[in-house]
Amino acid sequence: MSFFTTGMTSKEIRSKFLEFFQKRNHAVIASASLVPENDSGVLFNTAGMQPLIPYLLGKDHPDGKRLVNSQKCVRTQDILEVGDNTHDTFFEMLGNWSLGDYFKKEAIEWSYEFLTSKTEGLSLDPTRLYITCFEGDENAPRDTESQEIWQEIFTKNKINGERIYFRPAYKNWWSVGDNGPCGPDTEMFYDITGKLTSGMSLDEYLVADENQQVVEIWNDVFMQYLKKDGKVIGSLSQKNVDTGSGLERLVMVVQGKNNIFDTDLFSPIITELSSRYGKFDNERAKRIVADHVRTAVFMLSDGVTPSNTGRGYILRRLLRRAIFQAWKNSENFTELSSLCDTVIKIYDDVYQDLEKNGEKIREVFEKEESKFTKTIKQGEKEFEKMSDKDISGKNAFLLFSSYGFPFELIKELSEAKGFSVDEVGFKEEFKNHQDLSRKGSEQKFKAVLE
Ligand code: ALA
Repeated sequence: MSFFTTGMTSKEIRSKFLEFFQKRNHAVIASASLVPENDSGVLFNTAGMQPLIPYLLGKDHPDGKRLVNSQKCVRTQDILEVGDNTHDTFFEMLGNWSLGDYFKKEAIEWSYEFLTSKTEGLSLDPTRLYITCFEGDENAPRDTESQEIWQEIFTKNKINGERIYFRPAYKNWWSVGDNGPCGPDTEMFYDITGKLTSGMSLDEYLVADENQQVVEIWNDVFMQYLKKDGKVIGSLSQKNVDTGSGLERLVMVVQGKNNIFDTDLFSPIITELSSRYGKFDNERAKRIVADHVRTAVFMLSDGVTPSNTGRGYILRRLLRRAIFQAWKNSENFTELSSLCDTVIKIYDDVYQDLEKNGEKIREVFEKEESKFTKTIKQGEKEFEKMSDKDISGKNAFLLFSSYGFPFELIKELSEAKGFSVDEVGFKEEFKNHQDLSRKGSEQKFKAVLE
């Protein structure tokens, strides 16, 4: 099977990035597992810097002060946005780091060079680039230094027009949570319409951003501050650079697509879905299935198994959501587990663990899928009976406990029909069930369900 795209393949883009920084004395390090090694309080790594936090705080890294990699990440807080042009739950983050070594000038100049160089970089059109910098607040001054570096680059390359904007902390200050290293950032946006090339005022840029005419493709964070309990409490012992570029979006702009699902990171899955499942009621459902299957494969490879708590619950929710969407929206529903191999193939030579763990991935996927598809039809009937009105906590719990419908799925399906679900009531039922099962009484549990 071949999948045609314009320009470079995702594999070439990933390799080019690593090579570009390797040539500038960065050590290439492997992606860490999706599952954080230390108890960092998050279920999955959500950014390339996360496994590097101890080193950003000053610990010596065995590979030196300049690092580069492509890190596997999962973010599920935007799960309801998945299926639009740019949101996914699994993504790779390309990143280069300076651990107390180079700072703003090199970081920004290399970002520009990698994005635009025709020989060593991605050959993107510099007249389609727009930049934001931190406007300053009580924690740190206005980042005129980054703005001046950008302006110098644009002037030198004869790129005219207004294209650098100052933005507040909620846009241009980055940290991974309430504690740890943080700092102002400068973000790069690319005009995917190709029509805004002569520059824009701030107001025009804000509209273009809102309308997804420009998309963020890279973020250079200047990590020199420390946050504790949500407050910036001082400076770090060293000034670091933490950059992040979402590979899927970068591939999208390089391959000249207007959405990530048309890139070669997704198109084999989408094509397979179209050929095996026939017509889908809507394109969005197909994209959701492709996204969730891909994420599930990576989670399974990194040892996550479906369960009712923590990361296992997130995996279960993704699998069930994918199965549900395919079952509800496709012409010829058949098991999704056969798509595991399609995903694995996209990443051969990149994440060899996927192939090594292929059997385990398929096995757990199939097991979860056959369990869920058995109950899904019955559950759907029950749901239809209940969902001509707001759903009570008790009924929601029945769908959850007897038919395996994740709560969020019940909520989404009901809301799509214009009804609500009693979340507080559901939680009470859930707690009752936990209390009762702790006492080990099957009989009492049944009583709750009746
Ligand atoms: N850590 C930064 C981000 O995730 C680069 O955007």
